[in-house]
Amino acid sequence: MSDRLPPATRSRAEVHLRVLVPDDAAWVVEVDRDASTSLATGFAWEPNTLAAELDEGRWASEERWAWAIVADGRPGGFALVVNSDPRAADMAIRISHAFRGRGVGREVLRQLADHHFQAQPELQRLAGRAHEHNVPMQRAFNAAGFRMEARYRDSFRQPDGRYASEWGYALTRADWESGRHRRDAQGYDLHGLTFTLEETVDGPETRGMLVKFLQEGRRAIARYDGWDLAEGELAGLLVGDVLRYRFVHVVDARDGSSEETGRGRARVQRRGDGRLEIVDDWSDDRGGHGRRVLIERREG
Ligand SMILES: CC(C)(COP(=O)(O)OP(=O)(O)OC[C@H]1O[C@@H](n2cnc3c(N)ncnc32)[C@H](O)[C@@H]1OP(=O)(O)O)[C@@H](O)C(=O)NCCC(=O)NCCS
Repeated sequence: MSDRLPPATRSRAEVHLRVLVPDDAAWVVEVDRDASTSLATGFAWEPNTLAAELDEGRWASEERWAWAIVADGRPGGFALVVNSDPRAADMAIRISHAFRGRGVGREVLRQLADHHFQAQPELQRLAGRAHEHNVPMQRAFNAAGFRMEARYRDSFRQPDGRYASEWGYALTRADWESGRHRRDAQGYDLHGLTFTLEETVDGPETRGMLVKFLQEGRRAIARYDGWDLAEGELAGLLVGDVLRYRFVHVVDARDGSSEETGRGRARVQRRGDGRLEIVDDWSDDRGGHGRRVLIERREG
C-alpha cells in the first residue's frame, strides 16, 4: 500500500515521545517487523531480550536512547538516538504503516531536536541517513529543516546482499536555535514527486511527458523526457508558488537530434483532490513557446 495519500484525505496525527519501558518490548518488535523494508532493514529484536535490555537501562544511557512514539494516543513507532561522541548523535525512526504520511515523521524529528539539544548542552549535530530511494524519509527531513549534506556510496546493505547509497542529513545546534526545524512556511516541496502531462494548452504537445523532481530548500531540479524529448534537465528556484527555471534537452527529429535550451515559469498549486498541479509556461531560445499543465502522479 502506498503511504502517499492526498493531503486532503489525511489528518495530521497528534504526536508525543516518551521513554520506552520493558512492557513496550512486544509492540516495538511488531512495529520493527511491520516497518522494515528494503530501504530500512529491521533490528530483528527478540521481545524478551529487548525487554531485558530496557529493564537494565541499556536504552536510556548517555550513549543511546530509545523513544516510544505515541500517535493519537496509541503506540505508533519508535526512535533510537545513538551518540557517537558528545557532540554528535545519529538517529533512526520506524513508524507503523497505519500512521504514515500524516506528519508523524517530521514531528518526531522536531521533538527529538527539541529534547536532545536542550538536554545535551555539548550536542552540536543531530544526524540521520536515508536510503537514496527513501522519499518519505527525505521529505520528512526536508520538512523538519534538516539539510542534505552527504551521499554515502555503497553504505547500505540491502536484504538481497547488494549495497545501495544513502543520503546523510543533519540539523545543527545553530539550525535548531534559529527555529529552522519548525519553520512551516517553507512552501511546496516537490522532492521525490513525479508529474505527467495532463493538458497542452498552447504549443507543441509532448505526449507521455514525465518529470521527476528533487528539491532542497528553494532549489529544485528535475529530469524529464517525453515524445520527441530526451535527456531533459531543468534547474531553478521555487519561490512561493512559482518555479523559475532553465532547461536543456535533446530533440529527436527524423533528420537527426539537436540540443535545445530555454527557460520557464511554472506555477504550483494544489487541486481539490489533494494532488499538486503545475502550470508550466516555457520558451526555448529559438523562439518557440508553450503552456502545459502537469499533474502529480500517484502510485498504488
Ligand atoms: C520514513 C518514515 C519515518 C516517515 O514517516 P511519516 O510519518 O510517513 O513522515 P511524514 O508524514 O512526516 O512525511 C512523509 C512524506 O512522504 C510522502 N510520501 C510517502 N510515500 C511517498 C512516495 N512513495 N512518494 C512520494 N512521497 C511519499 C508522504 O505523503 C509525506 O508527504 P508530505 O511531505 O506531502 O506530507 C516512515 O515512513 C517509516 O517508518 N518508514 C519505514 C522505516 C524507514 O524508512 N525509516 C527511515 C530510516 S531511519
